[in-house]
Amino acid sequence: MTGRFISFEGIDGSGKSTQARRLAETLRARGETVILTREPGGSEGAEQIRRLVLEGKTDRWSAETEILLFTAARRDHLEKTIRPALERGETVITDRFADSTRIFQGITRGDLTETVDRLHQLMIGVEPDLTILVDLDPAEGLRRATARAGTEMRFEDMGLAFQEKARAGFLRLAEQHSRFRVIDGARSPDAVAVDILSAVTG
Ligand code: ADP
Ligand code: TYD
Repeated sequence: MTGRFISFEGIDGSGKSTQARRLAETLRARGETVILTREPGGSEGAEQIRRLVLEGKTDRWSAETEILLFTAARRDHLEKTIRPALERGETVITDRFADSTRIFQGITRGDLTETVDRLHQLMIGVEPDLTILVDLDPAEGLRRATARAGTEMRFEDMGLAFQEKARAGFLRLAEQHSRFRVIDGARSPDAVAVDILSAVTG
């Protein structure tokens, strides 16, 4: 696979989608072919799974069942969208990837890290070349996410303590893997975008 694989991670409302879109536009303006995609989703089958996991009551699925659903969605996304694009030499930017499962299913509701990692090894087996972690205070993230509220609120409904655990988990993960760049998301979208572009091109 010759293309570049970039993921955006962070808590809900941190600005990932905004920044992933901006980065895609900037790289396209420089002549790169860029696939902008997201998880859960990014392929037809995975978008169907998305509705199962993001809508409904918080107790609709256990963390264990979620690991299976998110990993199934990711496998389809990888087969149908990500791998073909990387093989064509294109740049793939994904709004969330496996680190989200490591955090939201792996640590927020008990320690399921080993289960997440084993299933990842078995079924996914690839990591991004670069991961942009947009870091933000969860209270501000929830405020932003609630302001744009729609039907996909299952994880936002898990509350502030859940998002705080997630934030700490992402920061710890970033210390452990050199592919991460941590970006302060508590600034204007323009200022955040400048830092992200230099992390990507520098
Ligand atoms: P995420 O994908 O991480 O959930 P979004 O990019 O969808 O975040 O942003 C969540 C909300 O906050 C959106 O309404 C968006 O317009 C707004 N937003 C994004 N970036 C910023 C920023 N730097 N400052 C203030 N609001 C922002
Ligand atoms: P997303 O659409 O990125 O929501 P937001 O824009 O609010 O950040 O992701 C939806 C939710 O799915 C988010 O709360 C995190 C959750 N999620 C997991 O729990 N595990 C996963 O593996 C992924 C990809 C997402």
